Amino acid sequence: MGVSAIQTVDPEIAAIIENERKRQKEGLEMIASENYASRAVLEAVGSVLTNKYAEGYPAKRYYSGCEFVDQAESLAIERAKKLFGAACANVQPHSGSQANLGAYNAIIQPGDTVMAMSLAQGGHLTHGADVNLSGKLYKFIGYGVNRETEMLDYDDIARLAETYHPKLIVAGATAYPRKIDFERIRQIANSVGAHVMVDMAHIAGLVAAKVHPDPIPYADIVTTTTHKTLRGPRGGMILSTDDFGKAVDKAIFPGSQGGPLEHVIAGKAVALKEAMQPSFVDYQKQVVANANALGKQLQARGVRLVSGGTDNHLLLVDLSRQKVTGKDAANKLHDVGITINKNLIPFDPLAATVTSGVRIGTPALTSRGMREDDMRQIGDWIADVITHMDDAALHERVHQAIIQFAKKFPVPGIDA
Ligand SMILES: Cc1ncc(COP(=O)(O)O)c(C=O)c1O
Repeated sequence: MGVSAIQTVDPEIAAIIENERKRQKEGLEMIASENYASRAVLEAVGSVLTNKYAEGYPAKRYYSGCEFVDQAESLAIERAKKLFGAACANVQPHSGSQANLGAYNAIIQPGDTVMAMSLAQGGHLTHGADVNLSGKLYKFIGYGVNRETEMLDYDDIARLAETYHPKLIVAGATAYPRKIDFERIRQIANSVGAHVMVDMAHIAGLVAAKVHPDPIPYADIVTTTTHKTLRGPRGGMILSTDDFGKAVDKAIFPGSQGGPLEHVIAGKAVALKEAMQPSFVDYQKQVVANANALGKQLQARGVRLVSGGTDNHLLLVDLSRQKVTGKDAANKLHDVGITINKNLIPFDPLAATVTSGVRIGTPALTSRGMREDDMRQIGDWIADVITHMDDAALHERVHQAIIQFAKKFPVPGIDA
């Protein structure tokens, strides 16, 4: 769909889209869960497939006229299974949260006990937070990281499993910079007769490229978003073993959703095809190398990284040495053109609205072609800002430098 049609029909929205496009180009996008979908993905999502109702699954629909969306959804399913080596795939979840609620719906009953990484330690809202439906429907027991190492405390997870005998153990995180040992989680689950669900939303692209341990062999169900490191359209997906394939399909439709978003599903199919190309593996390796280079530069400038480093696409940064809150740092960095989010660090004494830390990710900038030297430069800018929070002249200099710097890197989906 051309922007010109929107300009004619709705100039207000056209102007908003244009401003957002400009923001995405001029700034440095370092929110760990964001990325730039390719133009091919954007075209699929902006296509006429949005007009089609298709309740049900390919060849088993409640509506006529599904012959073409059936083909798109079947391609997405086959590609998802092939890319991740999964027996079954459901590509209909509207989001990662819908995928998680659908997965719970498939594998446990309301009132059952579940273990997952708690929100305050790096888990996601849908991993049993009180304010989320997951926390209201199921009895969640939260686990977390070791106080010393700030890495997942598998011995403690085993102890909690022994105490609470959960039906399900969930692995996966929103703000955890280290590899997750899925094999160990499976062993713990087996020792108490629990199922395993892995939410690989953040690391799906890394898993596809085999730069993070693979959860598929150890999980009954794997959920993911499609828009983070996987670099597809905004949405969710569920992979499972043969034992759970039918239950997952039922849990999504009619269990928790109505008509699937076939335009987004087509976008997922395109992204999955892109993820099968050799260049995607190079991209994911660079994402990790970039996070590492950025982390090392921040450490060289006296900034403390939670757990002392990173194995993946993100850094969790503790700003307490700099006596700066995550909230203030995120605001100041935004002013100079660096977009990140404030984030609780493990055992954070501050509230979630303030926080002692920030989360910084490299997927989006790596999609623009940035490499280690660029990360070192950005690390210096971040350190300059958070060590001189009141120096407006310095902030202005950094801001101008960032505008010039960002111009050198084309943005997928916008410039290329
Ligand atoms: C680990 C994890 N799972 C699930 C989700 C939820 O995804 P969505 O925002 O698409 O509902 C997120 C989002 O940040 C996440 O980090």
